[in-house]
Amino acid sequence: MAARVVAQLIVMGSQIVGKAFVAAYKQAAANAARGGGAGAASAKGAAEAATRKGGMTLDEACQILNIKKEAELADIVKNYEHLYKVNDSSVKGSFYLQSKVLRAKERIELERGIKIAAEKPPKPEGEAAAKAAENTSRPEPPQQQ
Ligand SMILES: *[C@@H]1O[C@H](CO)[C@@H](O)[C@H](O)[C@H]1NC(C)=O
Ligand SMILES: *[C@@H]1O[C@H](CO)[C@@H](O)[C@H](O)[C@H]1NC(C)=O
Repeated sequence: MAARVVAQLIVMGSQIVGKAFVAAYKQAAANAARGGGAGAASAKGAAEAATRKGGMTLDEACQILNIKKEAELADIVKNYEHLYKVNDSSVKGSFYLQSKVLRAKERIELERGIKIAAEKPPKPEGEAAAKAAENTSRPEPPQQQ
């Protein structure tokens, strides 16, 4: 009789433990689905912050620049400069696409923690610039008789 009660208690106990375990498991599974623990959450958070800042995901950036995620920097720069140029409004490109290309480049920079040299506007170099500098730095000498 006593043994039977003890056995029942053990069964009840294991049911309670079982329920508690299931509840804990569900909780853990829910946490995992939300980003998998504190460590994973912070790593994921960094990528998400970069995505927010860059306005696009790394995947989108790679698609726009037509590169693989692990592409060589030289290839990224090559594709970026090409796409930037062909999309320039001076060659009837779309400003919208050009800025997408720019954003994509910035997203890659953010991801890799690097700075890719941007397409620079042509600098006023050469004769004209030299003359202009000369004009400002050397005022007309007073005429002497
Ligand atoms: C402009 O850039 C996009 C990428 O955003 C590219 O797919 C497209 O081919 C480019 N336009 C031209 C005219 O090459
Ligand atoms: C330099 O100044 C002269 C007049 O002093 C002007 O005729 C010329 O256009 C100027 N050159 C430039 C590059 O601004």
